[in-house]
Amino acid sequence: MSKKWQIKVPGSTANLGPGFDSIGLGLSLYLTLDVTLQDEWEFMHIGDNVPSDTTVDTHLIYTIAQQVAQQYNTTLPPCKVEMTSELPLARGIGSSAAAIVGAIELANILGDLKLSQQDKLNISSQIEGHPDNATASVLGGLTISSMDEAGIVDTLHIQEMDAAFVVFIPNIELKTAASRGVLPEHLKRSYAVRASANANMLAASLIAKDYERIGRYMEADLFHEPFRANLIPAYKEIREAAKKAGAYGTALSGAGPTLISMIPLALSEQFTSSMQQQFPEHQVVVTTASPSGSTVTAY
Ligand code: HSE
Repeated sequence: MSKKWQIKVPGSTANLGPGFDSIGLGLSLYLTLDVTLQDEWEFMHIGDNVPSDTTVDTHLIYTIAQQVAQQYNTTLPPCKVEMTSELPLARGIGSSAAAIVGAIELANILGDLKLSQQDKLNISSQIEGHPDNATASVLGGLTISSMDEAGIVDTLHIQEMDAAFVVFIPNIELKTAASRGVLPEHLKRSYAVRASANANMLAASLIAKDYERIGRYMEADLFHEPFRANLIPAYKEIREAAKKAGAYGTALSGAGPTLISMIPLALSEQFTSSMQQQFPEHQVVVTTASPSGSTVTAY
């Protein structure tokens, strides 16, 4: 057995507008775990975007890896985990799903669990509670998924997206639970039918790679954005400015507070610098669909 591994997991954006709790897109921004077997468990955090004030016992990655190991009736040998991340916490770009997928990969290598991709999709989505971010972190690219009551996930996966994605990250955190707390418990049938038609058109346009239409439906969500908009800094202003600057469309990234624009690849530099100038309070970062999902390299 190897003694050293690197686990790399892409962050993700969820929903793309009306694909609420179902559509995910892996982003080329990564959580990296460098793992070395040693006599005791240890977590080392390098740089920004890593949790503070955690002990080994309360560390999300440790607790999930142990939970998965227990599920498979095995114990894990201790190791040192050096963690670096390009995913700011609680901003809606999938830092917790990436940590969950990283923990599953960790349990898989240390416990020799031989998990299949389907096992990873199921376990990560069950822990997250919905399959959008988790499937995107496992597979990369675009994922359209459904999870049944038994926690079995069915995912349609599209690797290539001929577009760039620009994230507008504000300097505030918004916990998913708080952002879900403002959503209504029930929707009127006629409203739900319109919301679901827009989600269907978004999914169909993504599969057809009709980028103008994808952009239109990204901005036509009725499931969550109308209720969350007030929590999001510059929600309306960014959508309008991005459209003027040539974006196909702009949506809330996951539960927010980050917004994400899909733009033509050729516009990447010009769009990003113009948006950074107009929204100096936000960190404006251009990224693309991640070319692969989570990877493990043994040394
Ligand atoms: N689909 C989820 C939401 C993503 O919008 O609440 C964040 O977990």
